[in-house]
Amino acid sequence: MKSIAILGTGYVGLVTGTCFADLGNKVTCIDIIEEKIRMLCQGKSPIYEPGLEELILKNVKHGKLSFTTDADRAIKNSEIVFICLPTPSLPDGHCDTSYVLGAAETIGKAIDNYKIIVNKSTCPPGTARQLENEICKYTSQLFAVATNPEFLKEGSAVIDFMKPDRVVLGTENPSVEKILRQLYEAVTINGHPITVMKRESAEMVKYASNALLAVRISFINEIAESCEHCGADIKEVVDGMTSDPRIGPHFLHAGPGYGGSCFPKDTLALVACSKDMGVSSKITEAAYIVNTEHKLYAAKKIEISIAGLEGKKIGIWGLAFKANTDDIRESPALTIVPYLIERGAHIHANDPQAMENAKRFLSPTVAYHTNLYDVCKGSDVLVLLTEWNDYKDPDFALIKKLMKTPAIVDLRNLYYRKKTDLQSLGFQYTGMGT
Ligand SMILES: NC(=O)c1ccc[n+]([C@@H]2O[C@H](COP(=O)([O-])OP(=O)(O)OC[C@H]3O[C@@H](n4cnc5c(N)ncnc54)[C@H](O)[C@@H]3O)[C@@H](O)[C@H]2O)c1
Repeated sequence: MKSIAILGTGYVGLVTGTCFADLGNKVTCIDIIEEKIRMLCQGKSPIYEPGLEELILKNVKHGKLSFTTDADRAIKNSEIVFICLPTPSLPDGHCDTSYVLGAAETIGKAIDNYKIIVNKSTCPPGTARQLENEICKYTSQLFAVATNPEFLKEGSAVIDFMKPDRVVLGTENPSVEKILRQLYEAVTINGHPITVMKRESAEMVKYASNALLAVRISFINEIAESCEHCGADIKEVVDGMTSDPRIGPHFLHAGPGYGGSCFPKDTLALVACSKDMGVSSKITEAAYIVNTEHKLYAAKKIEISIAGLEGKKIGIWGLAFKANTDDIRESPALTIVPYLIERGAHIHANDPQAMENAKRFLSPTVAYHTNLYDVCKGSDVLVLLTEWNDYKDPDFALIKKLMKTPAIVDLRNLYYRKKTDLQSLGFQYTGMGT
């Protein structure tokens, strides 16, 4: 059992802290938002993540998991401190490492005996070394800084943490490696590999992984656009490609473009830090540009499908950037909904979890409905934006009855296999690249 402090209790910090507690460690999660800490102390999760709230409640009850705004005390009482702080984009695309490097003062002033500091925030290569130098300014105690990039996916974060594809550790210190290997043993014992490397390499693994995944998504979306102009069908094309083991099936689903808190900012950060090094990152840059343009392409498809937007009533199913999360950061909805509103459309939206978050970013003119069928009433078109299970098998006969015009723009190709049935029911069906 290790005593752990988690600095930053967001998507990564809360999942990391809760899972480590569930694996038998004593964990204190720290955040600066008092309301968040108050909710968590009552066993309530401030974010939606399948299975998370139950685990929080269980581990709070068993005294293994606690929450505080008192960073100094939590750090003093821990052997290992995980940094799970935001690393947003700066206006020029660079990664804003100020939260992470800013933590050096808090950590340096708090440590009164040897600590291992582990950075989980996604940062450019060299940040761990910089953090180490920063902490040195505030303490003469011995400490070590390691890098441990996080690969969990929102929507399946608890499972991803408990059964990781891999754990990447950046450290050149054998005793730190030994302790972190022990900490992760419970999740790596069943064969999930733990890979140890230099800190800069670990930092680059995260950027390179996200950039490659972003490239695959942008690539297939570009091919989907081409399919629409040459009579090909992206679903058939992907089926024909992915049985090649060199290509594989993952991240080749045409859609409205990638979003979320990672791919957009991490691709931009890789491009910016490569430029600083005098290296070009043209492929990653292209993935970002294609994605930005593709979100607009998706919005225009809606406009074209109903021959103009002025005065039209549009039903939207899904606001989160993907299913099973309430996160709407960089969601395609944040490009598509404003595009539609600016051109005179009236938006009625439903999302099983993300409506509260969406309200903070979208125009107050958007009408939100907890019943998914209510958005269809009198609508000129129903747009499927997020592939939630709730939308997978709806009552299309009822939808047709409720809508003014039976038209569906399916930006996730969720109803692709039902296309003929929908057309027989009288729907005009528009997919992405099909
Ligand atoms: N969200 C993901 O799916 C994901 C996956 C892998 C890696 N990451 C990376 O992990 C890092 C964290 O991402 P996230 O999505 O969890 O962010 P988040 O915004 O959800 O959480 C960050 C938390 O840190 C808190 N915070 C800010 N300043 C603080 C301070 N000085 N002291 C204590 N708490 C403070 C915020 O209040 C917030 O609760 C980022 O670098 C991100 O790129 C995220």
